[in-house]
Amino acid sequence: MFRKKREVIERRLPTHIAIIMDGNGRWAKKRGLPRSAGHAAGASTFKTIARYCNRIGIRYLTVYAFSTENWKRPEAEVQGIMNLLRDYLKDADQFKNENIRLQFIGDFEPLDEDIRQLMAEDMETSKNATGLTVNIALNYGGRDEIVHAVRRIAQEGLRPEEITEQAVAERLYTAGMPDPDLIIRPSGEYRLSNYLIWQSAYAEYWFSNVLWPDFSPKHLEQAIDAYNGRDRRFGGV
Ligand code: IPE
Ligand code: IPE
Ligand code: MG
Repeated sequence: MFRKKREVIERRLPTHIAIIMDGNGRWAKKRGLPRSAGHAAGASTFKTIARYCNRIGIRYLTVYAFSTENWKRPEAEVQGIMNLLRDYLKDADQFKNENIRLQFIGDFEPLDEDIRQLMAEDMETSKNATGLTVNIALNYGGRDEIVHAVRRIAQEGLRPEEITEQAVAERLYTAGMPDPDLIIRPSGEYRLSNYLIWQSAYAEYWFSNVLWPDFSPKHLEQAIDAYNGRDRRFGGV
């Protein structure tokens, strides 16, 4: 009894959780539905998980919503995902009411102007929120991010000795944010798919076969429990 209690008290929460929201298409296929139905269900799961993270005191949640490679998909699927994003962004009050700060990472240049406008408005609306920071990765690619940082370094004319890990990190889309402690990938795939490749150098990973639309706070708790069993040494002893 006593032991159990102590374990509960000592549970460490990851400061920053990153999630690859994968498996929407397979979830829909299993039900004989169009892929778009899977994306809609996935968007709903995202809201549930963001709220839950906020409630339990997670500081940062970074979700992979659209990768630089996802443009390869049929135009109709891409448009469907963008429309779901619009719906989500239009409901700005949700962030205000829930004390959630909304931010984005990625290259926003190719996104439609109205989406970029909504993104800016939501960031402004939620900028003083003191709860969870939700970071949505949109047209995000880890390699693209590093290239972008290196270009800035060149533009700013840094001298070779000034190009440090910190100098690179400060020019990534995630500048100012702590690295992810825990990266979660559902859907049974065991890869990063170009997600946070610089920032994940010392992250802990948690994989699961559950498809993203079926992901629930129970699974998040399992991931956090697994994280608590990990011994993070960062190269030390
Ligand atoms: C993730 O689900 C959503 C995006 C990549 C936008 P998928 O659409 O990749 O679902 P699967 O992997 O085909 O099942
Ligand atoms: C990663 O999932 C991107 C997002 C979840 C947004 P993908 O479905 O695009 O990744 P791969 O193609 O299986 O590697
Ligand atoms: Mg996928």
